Amino acid sequence: MPLTIVRNDITKIKCDAVVNAANRHLAGGGGVDGAIHRAAGPELHRACLKLGGCRTGLAKITEGFNMPCKYIIHTVGPRWHGGGMHEAELLASCYRESLRLASEYECESVAFPLISAGAYGYPREEALHIAVSEISKFLLKNEMTVYIVVYDRECFKVSKKLMSDVTEYIDQHYVDEHFVNRQSAAMSNPSFISNHSPRMNRGMTGALLDAMASHEYGKRSFSAREEQGLEEMLASLDESFSQMLMRKIDEKGMTDAQCYKKANIDRKLFSKIRGNVNYKPSKPTVIAFAIALELSLEETKDMLMKAGFALSHSSKFDVIVEYFIRNRCYDVFKINEVLFSFDQLLLGG
Ligand code: APR
Repeated sequence: MPLTIVRNDITKIKCDAVVNAANRHLAGGGGVDGAIHRAAGPELHRACLKLGGCRTGLAKITEGFNMPCKYIIHTVGPRWHGGGMHEAELLASCYRESLRLASEYECESVAFPLISAGAYGYPREEALHIAVSEISKFLLKNEMTVYIVVYDRECFKVSKKLMSDVTEYIDQHYVDEHFVNRQSAAMSNPSFISNHSPRMNRGMTGALLDAMASHEYGKRSFSAREEQGLEEMLASLDESFSQMLMRKIDEKGMTDAQCYKKANIDRKLFSKIRGNVNYKPSKPTVIAFAIALELSLEETKDMLMKAGFALSHSSKFDVIVEYFIRNRCYDVFKINEVLFSFDQLLLGG
């Protein structure tokens, strides 16, 4: 997945470059800067001193030393002064400059902390938004895997209005998990059916369970005519997920790259899907393409069905996705911010 938000300690992430939220002296400090210096060892401090500091909004690079990465990119975020001191431009520049350096050093993967969102006091919601927006702009033109690493356990507050709208939608549409659990318990436990489900037809259910128990189920052999019928059905299967995807890309007048980049899918995965009509994608991958193609809810369900999935009101992930499609918001990165806030899988492949 080109852009992923993860909750972790950035010093534990294995990738080509880790970005440090440094100060202008590059002299080490607290927060993520302190953690990176401790993990990299004293040689990092010596290497930093040779760089002669760094201006706010710019970035410099060193080796990774004892960190599990080749490089550490040191960028200096702006202090938050209320928003009127070009903070947003400077913060955006930190991401651009760091990504430019990462590209120059041929990094295939980079991990960012939320620059300025700690000691420098930048409001987190806006800091995250700038991070996502600058990184996704970069990814439209470049191939790289980028992680935004969020450290704190505290749930991330994306736009309060958006969060409250999504929460309200979930409250209205999300089927209580306990109800679903009771149902699945009933399906997997015959005594539960007979004891707890008065509406269930015991005669029919009992016969089915008895048949399964006595191994009659599936024992009967097919006649030659039945086998031929099955072969004919298999020979005229419906359009596959991969075929539908390619058709929709053409119908929408998109290029392949426009589609997979908008879907937050990397080129290799897209090539696999294109090269194999029977490719079985994951559900977040299918939904990411449906969003990139700006499909209606019905079309999304159709595409999901081709891959063997459905949208269900007993899954928060599904309800959140449905909310965005109904509201015609087709920004995968925005949706991922919200999914992340609700601790759900992210869209992409
Ligand atoms: N992994 C990932 N994220 C972390 C980690 C970690 N190990 N430690 C802290 N963070 C998060 C914080 O929760 C915050 O969201 O990184 C974000 C940035 O916070 P700071 O490290 O305080 O960075 P910043 O706000 O840019 O302030 C920079 O702090 O330590 C000093 O020398 C640094 O003076 C500079 C200033």
